[in-house]
Amino acid sequence: MPTRRMLLTTAGAAAVVTTAGVAGLAWAPGTAEARAPWRVAGETFGDARVDALAYAILAPNPHNRQPWLFQLVGDNGIDVTCDLDRRLPHTDPPDRQTTIGFGAMLELLTMAAAEKGYAVDIDYFPDGEPQPLLDSRRIAAVTFRTDPGLAKDPLFQDALARRTSRAPFDAERPVDKAVLNTIMASVADQSSVGGTVDADRRARLIDLARRGWIAEYENDATRRESIELMRIGNRAVAQNPDGISLDGTAMGLFKMAGVITPKKLDTPGTTAYEQGLSTYNALIESAQGFVWLTSETNTRSEQLNAGRDWVRLHLAAQKAGVSVQPLSQVLQEFPAMSALYAEAQEEFGVAAPGVVQMFGRIGYAKFSPPSPRWPLSSRLIDAVA
Ligand SMILES: Cc1cc2nc3c(=O)[nH]c(=O)nc-3n(C[C@H](O)[C@H](O)[C@H](O)COP(=O)(O)O)c2cc1C
Repeated sequence: MPTRRMLLTTAGAAAVVTTAGVAGLAWAPGTAEARAPWRVAGETFGDARVDALAYAILAPNPHNRQPWLFQLVGDNGIDVTCDLDRRLPHTDPPDRQTTIGFGAMLELLTMAAAEKGYAVDIDYFPDGEPQPLLDSRRIAAVTFRTDPGLAKDPLFQDALARRTSRAPFDAERPVDKAVLNTIMASVADQSSVGGTVDADRRARLIDLARRGWIAEYENDATRRESIELMRIGNRAVAQNPDGISLDGTAMGLFKMAGVITPKKLDTPGTTAYEQGLSTYNALIESAQGFVWLTSETNTRSEQLNAGRDWVRLHLAAQKAGVSVQPLSQVLQEFPAMSALYAEAQEEFGVAAPGVVQMFGRIGYAKFSPPSPRWPLSSRLIDAVA
């Protein structure tokens, strides 16, 4: 079994190779290492579990907090727990979105393992479902077993290409209904998925999403939680490859000129504050369609399943050349959102104990560079025999 130290060395060496290999590519200078996990995935680390985890950490997850911790157990197990400091207490008070991110990670883990001929058995919350918040108990116990006849998942081919888009979508390029149907067909639980490219409904959902965004932005606690997680400039991204990455040349110049500072982002009337508001609004308004996921109950296991389905949906969109961005504001459970939250549940025909788990816009845009990740070695806790 590889020790954490061995993995650190291997991953470190790979990162150096990777950094050299990607020099000159389009993303911000000095941040290549923050993207190295996208390059390192696909290497062989001498343990099928680690090979699969290298892909799993590329999963979509709220505010890119990457809250997962992994402990290799014996020869074929992984215990998954949550780094509790990486949750979003204001934006995601019940840890629902954080749990969804774990589901997405487990689905990628499953796909990556299948590529190498391993089936994974996943026992959700083997120590009990943590309520009302996640705690130090295991999120999942995963067991690898060889299964040479196992089918590979075609969606996995896009695992390294998948991006959450923060670009306006092309207003001249609507998403075809047939394309939407293909994307929706990727979801394991067909009863949970919805989508639309219909003009009237699209307009209604744009309006709802915009109001949700304004409510989140104008609410001090949630806005500040996001600002604290903003990595402004290339150096900040390299130092903390998580959170909301604001890298690139323009951002560096704004930072240097003092236009974008955490304080200004938090002060109505400043360019930083007003731009933050209007930029996201423009993204919402450019939506060419929407997709969403619901569940009949809101158990922790349903949240994991929603995450698994979300990454499937996203990978299927990627395969079809369609960009995706979750717009989670109206699904968030903090008090200032409660009226819009109720409106969203009604819009998607969900009644308690059911909930809308995910909601996002779709459309066409140039795909962006991958988002930063901490190296896998930093998410591994010492193995147990
Ligand atoms: C449960 C959940 C909620 C999310 N909500 C939002 C959102 O409201 N707005 C947004 O831009 N991205 C949202 N995201 C996307 C994450 O920010 C994104 O996955 C993360 O930054 C990593 O980037 P990547 O998906 O390109 O790898 C969400 C992702 C998940 C899993």
